[in-house]
Amino acid sequence: MRAYYYDNLPGDQRLPHDYAPTRPVAPETLTALNVLSWHIPIDEGHKDAVNAVAKERGYKNRDTINVSKEGMGEVYEAKIKGFFEEHMHEDEEIRYILSGSGFFDVRETPSDAWIRVAVEPGDLLVLPAGIYHRFTLDEKNQIKALRLFQDEPKWVPHNRSNATDANVHRLGYLREIGVGA
Ligand SMILES: [Fe+2]
Repeated sequence: MRAYYYDNLPGDQRLPHDYAPTRPVAPETLTALNVLSWHIPIDEGHKDAVNAVAKERGYKNRDTINVSKEGMGEVYEAKIKGFFEEHMHEDEEIRYILSGSGFFDVRETPSDAWIRVAVEPGDLLVLPAGIYHRFTLDEKNQIKALRLFQDEPKWVPHNRSNATDANVHRLGYLREIGVGA
């Protein structure tokens, strides 16, 4: 997993959008935003290791999502656009990358800068409830990921707006990272 500041230049969202030279984001910066990550290589032991994290954090359920033209069919283009709208959820978004790659962009607060997190197989990423984020495939156009969740999936995306700025989960998140009142 590599994290760096997004360059904000127009153009294909699937391109790296890395500054030249790159502006790396330290792991501590992500930790301070309550973004958690592990790297669990996809080998014989990976299921046990993922299960251990799931157990510790109370993720009882899971499913697999395959984001590619082949995997999604007709809804592919609409889904890709939707994933890249800045949004938040009222629960954690947990992804373990099985194959392919992509970019999670998370908002740094209070700077409001985009941090781009490039994920690859073996990366396990937890975005906290209330963080503004978006997702895109990269130029390889394919990712397969395990989605972990507690009871029922709560993946309704709430696109950023005045309403989400006042959402109780958003405010709770800001308090947790020490930014909110
Ligand atoms: Fe999301």
